[in-house]
Amino acid sequence: MSAEKVTVSVIKADVGSVVGHSRPHPSMLEASKGILADAQKQGIIEDFYVTRVGDDINLYMTHYKGKGNKDVHGAAWECFQKAAKIAKSMKLYAAGQDILTDAFSGNVKGAGPGSAEMSFEERGSEPLLFFMADKTEPSAYSLPLSKIFLDPFTTTGLVVDARAKKGFCVEIQDVIDNKKVVMKSPEETLSILSLLGDTSRYAIKRICSRAGIGPACVVSTDKLNLTAGKYIGKDDPVCICRAQSGLPSVGEYLQPFINPMLVAGWMRGSHYGAFYPCSPEDSDPVYFDGPPRICCLGFQLNEGKLQGLEPLGTKNGEHIPVDFFKSDTWDLARANAVKASRFIRSQGPFMPSILGPEEMEYTSRPEVLKELTSRFERLD
Ligand code: F6R
Ligand code: MG
Ligand code: MG
Repeated sequence: MSAEKVTVSVIKADVGSVVGHSRPHPSMLEASKGILADAQKQGIIEDFYVTRVGDDINLYMTHYKGKGNKDVHGAAWECFQKAAKIAKSMKLYAAGQDILTDAFSGNVKGAGPGSAEMSFEERGSEPLLFFMADKTEPSAYSLPLSKIFLDPFTTTGLVVDARAKKGFCVEIQDVIDNKKVVMKSPEETLSILSLLGDTSRYAIKRICSRAGIGPACVVSTDKLNLTAGKYIGKDDPVCICRAQSGLPSVGEYLQPFINPMLVAGWMRGSHYGAFYPCSPEDSDPVYFDGPPRICCLGFQLNEGKLQGLEPLGTKNGEHIPVDFFKSDTWDLARANAVKASRFIRSQGPFMPSILGPEEMEYTSRPEVLKELTSRFERLD
């Protein structure tokens, strides 16, 4: 009989911040911790950790209830409701932004928050990485994940680890048409890249081992613009990864972030900026509402519980993860990201500093064109 599968869920939302779109108030995070501690006592979740990246609250939860579970999603929904209430009481900025419905229907999908979840049989030792990005969109992970899982010049393990060498199944989501396709690496690598290169439409949803290890990573791909019926914000996506023993190692997951990568989002969700790797503590958007930031926290899983640097068995989410991008090893990557962002920013409101017309979160062009309707003349 196979072992019971553990589920790791990250559910996240921006429900208001101090100052402008910078960071949630500490009391919003504390309130979320209290609600998840109750959910833990009730046996809904095994364990949890509450953190943030920029203005987004991120709830990490482990449980045995499977993906899309009503009680687990309900606990997260309650956290965001409560945090939004606190934000409103303090007149914080964009209080309640990602709460798009009054009635919880059993799942946060389509209700505003983003979610990434994976279920698997816990291995003898299970290292987990949690990437969190702010001021960008799900397809921002496509380039680093392609390097990690498809490029042997990035991940030596793809060549020298017999299980990694068997390749991976890559699920690609068409975020506009709401459909998906599963493709196989290494044999379909070039076709996979042909799709993923269009970051305005295609994004990696999940990647699974072809050596029987199960899921390797999963990305939150809920497009807020579609769920809201209008563009109200980039998703600021999360990505949960399992590492080592036939999957990319921790170091192989981190390596691509040493070089600047331009991703869509940044100021007004309408610019390209370079991913800035940092600690959650350093993730306030301090330069032109950005640049887009990427954090990576690590935990070991221990019988469904999160194990960080805290003493064994600590309860109530009082965990201390390994904060990978905190190290000054990343100072050069940060400096290069600011340099790249500054360069592209110098082009002001001209493409490719700003995004293509269909991707702009803000645009005045339709009104400008309307006003000019009678003044435009046909060319001979
Ligand atoms: C981007 C973001 C910010 C805002 C910008 C304008 O995701 O959150 O860059 O878009 O600060 O915000 P409003 O329109 O609220 O003044
Ligand atoms: Mg915000
Ligand atoms: Mg955000």
